[in-house]
Amino acid sequence: MRSHYCGKLDLGLNGEAVQLCGWVHSRRDHGGVIFVDLRDRTGVAQVVFDPDNTAAFSAAEGVRSEYVLRIVGQVRRRPPGTENPHLHSGMVEVLAGSLEILNRSEPLPFQLDEPEISESVRLKYRYLDLRREGMHRNLLLRHAVTRNLRRFLEDHDFVEIETPVLTKSTPEGARDYLVPSRTHPGRFFALPQSPQLFKQLLMVAGFERYFQVTRCFRDEDLRADRQPEFTQLDIETSFLDEDGIMGLMEEMIRTVFRAVLAVDLPDPFPRMSYAEAMARFGVDRPDLRIALELVEIADLVRGADFKVFAQAANTPGGRVAVLRLPQGDRLSRKDIDDYTAYVAGFGAKGLAYIKVNDAARGRDGLQSPILKFLSDEVLSAVLERCHAATGDILFFGADQAKVVNDALGALRIRLGHDLGLVEQAWKPVWVVDFPMFEYSAEDRRWQSLHHPFTAPKEMDRERLDIDPQNALSRAYDMVLNGSEIGGGSIRIHRSEVQEKVFELLGIGTEEAQAKFGFLLDALKFGAPPHGGIAFGLDRIAAIMAGAESIRDVIAFPKTQKASCLLTEAPSAVDEGQLRELHIRLSKPPEPASGAG
Ligand code: AMO
Ligand code: AMP
Repeated sequence: MRSHYCGKLDLGLNGEAVQLCGWVHSRRDHGGVIFVDLRDRTGVAQVVFDPDNTAAFSAAEGVRSEYVLRIVGQVRRRPPGTENPHLHSGMVEVLAGSLEILNRSEPLPFQLDEPEISESVRLKYRYLDLRREGMHRNLLLRHAVTRNLRRFLEDHDFVEIETPVLTKSTPEGARDYLVPSRTHPGRFFALPQSPQLFKQLLMVAGFERYFQVTRCFRDEDLRADRQPEFTQLDIETSFLDEDGIMGLMEEMIRTVFRAVLAVDLPDPFPRMSYAEAMARFGVDRPDLRIALELVEIADLVRGADFKVFAQAANTPGGRVAVLRLPQGDRLSRKDIDDYTAYVAGFGAKGLAYIKVNDAARGRDGLQSPILKFLSDEVLSAVLERCHAATGDILFFGADQAKVVNDALGALRIRLGHDLGLVEQAWKPVWVVDFPMFEYSAEDRRWQSLHHPFTAPKEMDRERLDIDPQNALSRAYDMVLNGSEIGGGSIRIHRSEVQEKVFELLGIGTEEAQAKFGFLLDALKFGAPPHGGIAFGLDRIAAIMAGAESIRDVIAFPKTQKASCLLTEAPSAVDEGQLRELHIRLSKPPEPASGAG
């Protein structure tokens, strides 16, 4: 039906006959001449209808926005002064010979170039939203990312192997999506939170280098960078240690950035221990584009009169830290109140601060509600520790380390954005040396920081028996501009170590056998040393596209409440289906409108 793409026309085609297909992007009636901007996947071409050609002209009079047309015409140079330098096809136009209306369109619920369309409308009419240039660009970019990732992996001997979607629960820390079995009453499949166990089995099977672009399902609280179903680039290798895997994976990411964005990422990526990341940034995914850091001062305030500080400093697991904001004196009282309310959302009981109006004048140069509680010695030691200078504001957090880290870590990011302190740069970093376990106060038990299949560091193997809290794992996370884009580890490949770790996690022999018996068995049949990683493809694409949410790089995403506004899934099903699945509802399903 077509000979050329609209967006690809240029002066090289001057005089040629062309056939174009596409949508009416706009139509302008210039008293006597009609212009139609015809849009296809590649861009827009200007088509001119001359009244001398009565058939085509009167057909053009009837077309409206988003009609689908086929046009046969001739390329010609635009008259001088009417060229459009912003369009690839802007030097030329097409004089229409004939016009065929392939389909009509009702007026759209929103204009494609409207800047502020509510997201619920966009999601309901996603196929129209996706017609918009920005969304097209995002999905094409995502395609380019996936293609380059695949090419790199193929060039490095990886094989793509699919793993089941109807499977058994895999512990990645979220709630499972369950699928009832019709043929086994009362039994359920779980949709995979990741292919973790299957990829390990593929290593036992001897494939050595596996990858898969695969959907994972996690029923968890959603945020801008989380979806209930999302895509991983999942990878596993045998006979590589962490340096081997990390080296190869960062080369892959560098290759993709170069190919898709013409950006050179650092070689090698810097590395940082988990402990350092928490101490300096309060999070395990530090955004290194923001130069602000937390500074520990617990040792300086143990004997201070200010109870809030002294108490946190003297409590096991407590932390007292300062976040120094240079030129923070521009913050108003109201700003500080707002930030105090902000950190309260992370559990902080307050946000003490000191304004350094004049660093040379000692106590007299400072302004703070807590000045009276701090001796000259403590004050000067604190100022010295965080290199305070005139114009700074120092924010304080004192509490359990988790609260201080969450609060000041989030405040750091917030200040960075509010005050324009985010460097325009790509800042990848590997976070390494994670603890094997963390204590969950909520569940009152130890949990894996990564997942239960992660190996302890060689030197910490014995520590598992005597001091498991302090054992480090062989896990690594790839972080880019404050986002965890990938995470993985060297795995346990000996069944006795795996059993030991299950035991520490409070998973008894019977439970381990019931849940992971197949893995424990497999480890007994010559499992090679292996390890891998999974990347969040949606996150990588979103960061590269400069999108605020991963929803903007997913064709058909779900809302914050895990529903699809387009299809209205999840939906009620009929009685008969439920009966077949041996399910009886304890209350009637909520009405469809509640799905948003
Ligand atoms: P992990 O749970 O860290 O590791 O997941 C790997 C990466 O997947 C992305 N991700 C998500 N993206 C969007 N929405 C979500 N809900 C979501 N959850 C995770 C993140 C994350 O870094 N099996 C292990 C990997 C391994 O050990 O090899 C795993 O799944 O970018
Ligand atoms: P208060 O003595 O409770 O009035 O607090 C004095 C100052 O310390 C106020 O600026 C509070 O915001 C701040 N503050 C109180 N608790 C904490 C805390 N746990 N961490 C940091 N600052 C706090």
